[in-house]
Amino acid sequence: MTPDDAAAQLARERALQQAEKMETIGRLTGAIAQQFNELLTAILARAAALAQSGPPSRELDVLKETAQRGAELAQRLLGFSRHRVLDLQPLVLTEFARDALESMRRGLPAGTDVQFEADDDAGVIEADPAAVKQILLHLVTNARDAMPRGGTLHVEVRRARLGAEDRPLHAWVEPGSYVSVALSDTGVGMDARTLARVFEPFFTTKPVGVGTGLGMSMAYGLVKQHRGYLHLYSEVGQGTTAKVYFPAVRTRGVPEAATAADEALPGGTETILLVEDDQTMRLAAQQLLSKVGYRVVTAVDGQNGLDAYRAHRASLNLVITDVVMPKLSGFDLYQAIRGEARGVRVLFMSGFPAPNFRKTVGQDPRVAFVTKPWTASELLAQVRVLLEESPA
Ligand SMILES: Nc1ncnc2c1ncn2[C@@H]1O[C@H](COP(=O)(O)OP(=O)(O)OP(=O)(O)O)[C@@H](O)[C@H]1O
Ligand SMILES: [Mg+2]
Repeated sequence: MTPDDAAAQLARERALQQAEKMETIGRLTGAIAQQFNELLTAILARAAALAQSGPPSRELDVLKETAQRGAELAQRLLGFSRHRVLDLQPLVLTEFARDALESMRRGLPAGTDVQFEADDDAGVIEADPAAVKQILLHLVTNARDAMPRGGTLHVEVRRARLGAEDRPLHAWVEPGSYVSVALSDTGVGMDARTLARVFEPFFTTKPVGVGTGLGMSMAYGLVKQHRGYLHLYSEVGQGTTAKVYFPAVRTRGVPEAATAADEALPGGTETILLVEDDQTMRLAAQQLLSKVGYRVVTAVDGQNGLDAYRAHRASLNLVITDVVMPKLSGFDLYQAIRGEARGVRVLFMSGFPAPNFRKTVGQDPRVAFVTKPWTASELLAQVRVLLEESPA
């Protein structure tokens, strides 16, 4: 086993451990919440009976209110632990998300720029509208809290495919067609320790009284109940992307083969320079690109990327680069390369709003952007689009 294989294996094991931990917490929380829900229901029923038979009592009102608060908390925990009964119906996610976002806009500080982008026909999902709205609300609220002085909230709804080749970055996915909604903010971001615990119920970094630490765990539980996935990508001081994948409903008229999970991934034989400082991401991209036929040269940071570019420039067809990196950022790398050769095709990978990127690089057709955490089909599609763009 090469060191790269070992690292990939380790990343998979960690992801599996994380999934198992969430399973356990979910089961435990569910069992406790169920018990408490019953107790609180009984208390509320008795309080109601007392209120009916006796004189009005302030004490009794407070008792009822307190029990009510407890019952609501138990309900939220049941949502996390997947004990909620879903009212499933076909939902056009693009429209639904657009409307939901519109209604949430008012709750955001004045300095927040809200952007929405969607595939024309991103697809239909089978979902509980109230639950989907809650998921979006929890994620939008977190984005808001992460940007107290405003910023950009970018929301994207896309058709997505997940396959076995996505396992390194999206552990244990069921291969198939999905509709994804990604919410990116330009907020404070999360460090690795926060990311590792973010789905745990009651985990919060916010002051007492501000956060209860249930938003993410509820979103996670509700997404799971829809047989979907919730993936996060974040960098401290830069921002966060939360991406939810819902299984797509197979639309009538679309042949089975078109939605089949093992549909061939688009590949090629060109040479690609891949610049990425995150080892897991780099390995995942490298293995994927090599598997579909590309020659891949890798670099571990921006400066290393520029050196590699200079060493291999004659044979390079495309540069894929992360944006946030030590020494030289992806944008700096882009500018340096552009200064040396105008026609180079560049694909940026980042977890943060694309429009800011458009401001930096203009409307160049030889530049594209893919949101982290990307899927194999998304990445490979963008690579092909750029490579087929006519040379300068
Ligand atoms: N978009 C984000 N940017 C930065 N940090 C985030 C983001 N979303 C979640 N977090 C971190 O994860 C923690 C847990 O989030 P979660 O939504 O579960 O709870 P909370 O927001 O603290 O409280 P609650 O949602 O119950 O009001 C947050 O306290 C914060 O540290
Ligand atoms: Mg929250």
